[in-house]
This record gives sequence, structure tokens and C-alpha cells, in this order.
Amino acid sequence: MGSSMKIGIINGPNLNLLGSREPEIYGRDGFEAILSALQTRYPAHTFVYYQSNIEGELIDAVQDMALRQGCEGILLNAGGYTHTSVALHDAIKAVSVPVLEIHLSQVAAREEFRHTSLIGAACRGSIAGFGKDSYRLGVEALTSSL
Ligand code: DQA
Repeated sequence: MGSSMKIGIINGPNLNLLGSREPEIYGRDGFEAILSALQTRYPAHTFVYYQSNIEGELIDAVQDMALRQGCEGILLNAGGYTHTSVALHDAIKAVSVPVLEIHLSQVAAREEFRHTSLIGAACRGSIAGFGKDSYRLGVEALTSSL
């Protein structure tokens, strides 16, 4: 991958409430602040952002970013759909760009139902547990190791 990339970031359900939603788990920054910090840190990269609470819209976003918008990698925080969505797994498999599974929290250390990821097996890798830094580490992984 070159030094400048077009990177898609997709956030799933309830991540529109980032900053006010369970801040002790997910932090106090809204995603706008996280995204603008990424853009400042990586001025050469182009970031395309999408958030939806609706499973089918997340599937459309994976397809659209990969097949039509020309994103070269996607950071996907599928929220609760991580643990339930065969259809998102299939969408990730259907595109050839690398998709990374991203979580703010360390899902493996939380409730049992968060220990299973239905999307992980379709993703190039997973980053969890570093708060907003999980997204930055995802950018690093896309740009330096793939
Ligand atoms: C999350 C973890 C999921 O289990 C949860 O449903 C979320 C957020 C995270 O970023 O830590 O909505 O994906």
C-alpha cells in the first residue's frame, strides 16, 4: 500500500452517541473529534466516514466504500452487530479490500455474549481495547503492515 490511502471508517449502532454513551467504557470524545484528530495526524490520507444504526445500511456502506468509492481499506466498528450479523460477515467476504474489526472496549473482558464475533473470521485483523486509539492503530495497520 502507498503512503496515501483512501480509508473508510464505518461505525455501527449506538456509536452516534459516542461521548455520552457509557463514557466509562467508551470514553468522552464524540466521533467527530476522533475523526478530526485522525485527519490532522494523517493529512496524506483521505477518510470517508459513515455511521448507521441499521444493519442493512452498514452492509450497503461496506459494499459502497469497497466497490464504488475506491476505499483501499475499511475500519469497521460494527457495535452490537459484531456479535450477531452473518450478513455483515458475508458482505466483508464479498469485497476484496481489507476490513479491520475495530472496538473501543476490550470485548473479550466483558460479558460472555461479546466474546463471539461473527465478523472477525471475515476480517483481515482485529483491534480492541484501546479506546479511541483503536481507530488510530487501525490506520497504522492498514498503512504500514498490509
Ligand atoms: C463495541 C463493543 C460492542 O460489544 C458493543 O456492542 C458496541 C461497541 C466497542 O467499540 O467496544 O456497541 O463495538
